[in-house]
Amino acid sequence: MSRTFVMIKPDGVKRNLIGEIVARFERKGFKIEAAKLMQIDRSLAERHYAEHKERPFFGDLVNFITSGPVFAMVLEGNDAVQNARSLIGKTNPTEAAPGTIRGDYATEVSSNIIHGSDSDESAAREIKLFFE
Ligand code: TYD
Ligand code: MG
Repeated sequence: MSRTFVMIKPDGVKRNLIGEIVARFERKGFKIEAAKLMQIDRSLAERHYAEHKERPFFGDLVNFITSGPVFAMVLEGNDAVQNARSLIGKTNPTEAAPGTIRGDYATEVSSNIIHGSDSDESAAREIKLFFE
């Protein structure tokens, strides 16, 4: 068993998708170890997305992720990082397969509904940022 960090972004919360999305993870077999509705401030947003600091979309990304409440979760399961990323789908919703969260609920990369850690190291770092 391992852990991953998953966060429903402000667009998912505004569209009342928390229940639908949490249900998908529960059905897959994940256990929710921790969860909270919270507002991300700019400092936390910049630390969470530090790897993208030099990218052209960084400013818009920070504005977007701080634009309203997010629903942050620690999920536990088998191969948690990989299994969560498969449920989430590709970064660009145009390429995300139907049946995935991004494939079913989103149409553009700048508001793609949900975040999931991309490695065990990222998961540990992000869980510490949001829950400790
Ligand atoms: P990234 O870590 O590459 O994707 P993922 O969320 O699948 O791990 O990028 C982080 C977020 O940045 C992504 O979810 C949406 C946003 N983003 C853009 O707005 N434009 C882009 O071209 C990319 C690659 C990402
Ligand atoms: Mg990423």
